[in-house]
Amino acid sequence: THEAKIEALLSKMSLEEKIGQTNLRGMHSTESELPEKLIASVKKGEVGAFLNIMNLNYVDELQRIAVEESPNGIPLIFGRDVIHGFKTIFPIPLGLAATWNTQIVEKSSEIAAFEATSSGIRWTFAPMLDIARDSRWGRIAESPGEDPYLATVLGAAYIKGFQGDDLSNPYRMAASAKHYIAYGAAIGGRDYNTVNLSEPLLRNIYLPPFKAAIDAGAATVMSSFNEINGIPATGHEFLLKDVLRGELKFDGFVVSDWDSVTEMIAHGFASDEKHAAELAAKAGLDMEMNSEAYENHLKELIKEEKVTIEELDEFVRNILRIKFRLGLFENPHRNKEHTGNLYAESHLEEAKKAAIKSTVLLKNKNSILPLSEKTNVAIIGPLANAPHEQLGTWAFDGEKEHTNTPLDAYKKANTNFTFAIGLGHSRDTSKKGFQEAINNAEKSDVILFFGGEEAILSGEAHSRANINLPGAQEELINELAKTGKPIVLVIMAGRPITITNIIDKVDAVLMAWHPGTMGGEALYEIVHGIKSPEGRLPVSWPKTAGQLPYFYNHKNTGRPADSINFIPMDKIPIAAWQSSLGNDSHYLDVGFTPHFPFGYGLTYTTFKYTDISISKKIINFNEDLEIKVSITNTGKNDGKEIAQLYIQDVVGSITRPVKELKRFEHVFLKSGETKEVTFKISAKDLEFVNHKMIKAAEVGVFNIWVGPSASEGLKTSFSLKK
Ligand code: IFM
Repeated sequence: THEAKIEALLSKMSLEEKIGQTNLRGMHSTESELPEKLIASVKKGEVGAFLNIMNLNYVDELQRIAVEESPNGIPLIFGRDVIHGFKTIFPIPLGLAATWNTQIVEKSSEIAAFEATSSGIRWTFAPMLDIARDSRWGRIAESPGEDPYLATVLGAAYIKGFQGDDLSNPYRMAASAKHYIAYGAAIGGRDYNTVNLSEPLLRNIYLPPFKAAIDAGAATVMSSFNEINGIPATGHEFLLKDVLRGELKFDGFVVSDWDSVTEMIAHGFASDEKHAAELAAKAGLDMEMNSEAYENHLKELIKEEKVTIEELDEFVRNILRIKFRLGLFENPHRNKEHTGNLYAESHLEEAKKAAIKSTVLLKNKNSILPLSEKTNVAIIGPLANAPHEQLGTWAFDGEKEHTNTPLDAYKKANTNFTFAIGLGHSRDTSKKGFQEAINNAEKSDVILFFGGEEAILSGEAHSRANINLPGAQEELINELAKTGKPIVLVIMAGRPITITNIIDKVDAVLMAWHPGTMGGEALYEIVHGIKSPEGRLPVSWPKTAGQLPYFYNHKNTGRPADSINFIPMDKIPIAAWQSSLGNDSHYLDVGFTPHFPFGYGLTYTTFKYTDISISKKIINFNEDLEIKVSITNTGKNDGKEIAQLYIQDVVGSITRPVKELKRFEHVFLKSGETKEVTFKISAKDLEFVNHKMIKAAEVGVFNIWVGPSASEGLKTSFSLKK
């Protein structure tokens, strides 16, 4: 029925109106009234969608003009980057990924949609599904981490949360799976940089999250800024047409990234704006964000038969389809009664829950955590009371006045604490505040150091070559360590932060990412044992940026690194005989392992894995394999384990990763309790794309591990036979 309505509309639309549908326009927030030119364009049907219009009167007025005064009354879509919350800000997506929890991700997106739709926003530019293997890349903060399976599971949850089961629900919004594709594979983690990937790598690692999002009904897809093997994603016909439409059966619309159509000129792919429009159109890009190549040139390109009217019609169909699905034709206007319940108690509760579940405990010497609420703590560090910073990147609408910082939480709890920030902000190098912080530390039982990165040090265009604690934070920690007081380091940052220099100076480390609006109370409750940290790393945590890119699912190489061959640099004898024999793939100075592996995270208890068993030693292509393992809570506290199942396809027609995550399970265990966990996999889970672009599972031996991270676990194996 939508299709019939689309065809009916198409038959009435002028060429100008059709081109208009492909225009996504922004407006400067400084504009004090609606520009006449803009009003005139909307009246003529020359705009299809807007982004970042936050003046509600403008939203209402522009939509009124579109539906009442434009030739065919086609409604506009209003979009915005509602990435990890609208007003109530949840942890950054990398933090949400650390929950390994689809319910949390879905709920956070549902709340984001509920709040944002009150401002007329029916389209978000999320979720970002770019696999990120390099923590120098600033946008790792917004990513689901390094693993395609985790990204796949969470990607579908985001779509469900933003869109619900029925897009026409006015409290939901269209999602945009972005950035298609391989944006995270930029050389050296430098944002926007070149991507060179073999097609199997693209298909095995970078594509699965997009497939999952499309299968879950993602309404739109955003093409990325980067080039892939020499062709910018925005002009990549093979990826946009053959793969996205042909193989993944995507039937929504593809929007470019901001100016990514005209940026094909700087890429050296298009000669000018008109050529850029032609290349994007030929590749199948439906809507152009911000730049005006389509608006300025499509008409002429069609006249010159460089682009066909059928091609343009297809763009319009794709765009109208989503407008119909959103129910905009029946219900174009923002419901003025819908307040969005901004910062509602229930939203804040969910945000707190998400922050708790995303926090990863990396070190806990002598179980110093949790602290009793009577402990006299010295709160120190640049992130202890930085309301804006703890919201993280892409938190356009979250307000610092509503942010609950750790200091706020301690004030509310009214326990014994002192507060001296020590450093003005995360990059501060002045030592003016050191003495006051040291004085407080000396009078305390435990130092709580809230360090990390300000929000602006990660996110778009904010890559770093060094990813340590910036400014004089390490120096301050060293000074504080001299007091002899135990130190709990709480990190708020948009990426893993290298802490090898100071790890021995601190007793406990909690990674809180940028935890969002409710970070303060969440951390208070974790530190004092009201709640346990539940997060697990969605990325490998490097020892040094020099190890990057680093990812657990690497290949074995012909000379795999192992601890037998590894001689650390300081142990190599002076004037040692030079030889390549017996050497393997590692760095002399930092070895071959990360500081903390993918999947890692401690709790306030301990778990033991025993009795791994499999239902069969050999399966065929139609059989399931059951893997069972027993997990016991061997500690004194109740706690939640995230049991992870990894496989290794030992021999393949192309080499396979040393490990690949295939399943995980949250298991809550009371102290002393044992539970058996059962995983089920089949040949489908063993499939990969090989050098002939054939996607299939291959017969042979597979290793299996079940354990608490990518570098631990009980091992067994089975064979797949025809
Ligand atoms: O959604 C974003 C994208 O991720 C980066 N460029 C701008 C877009 C719209 O704000």
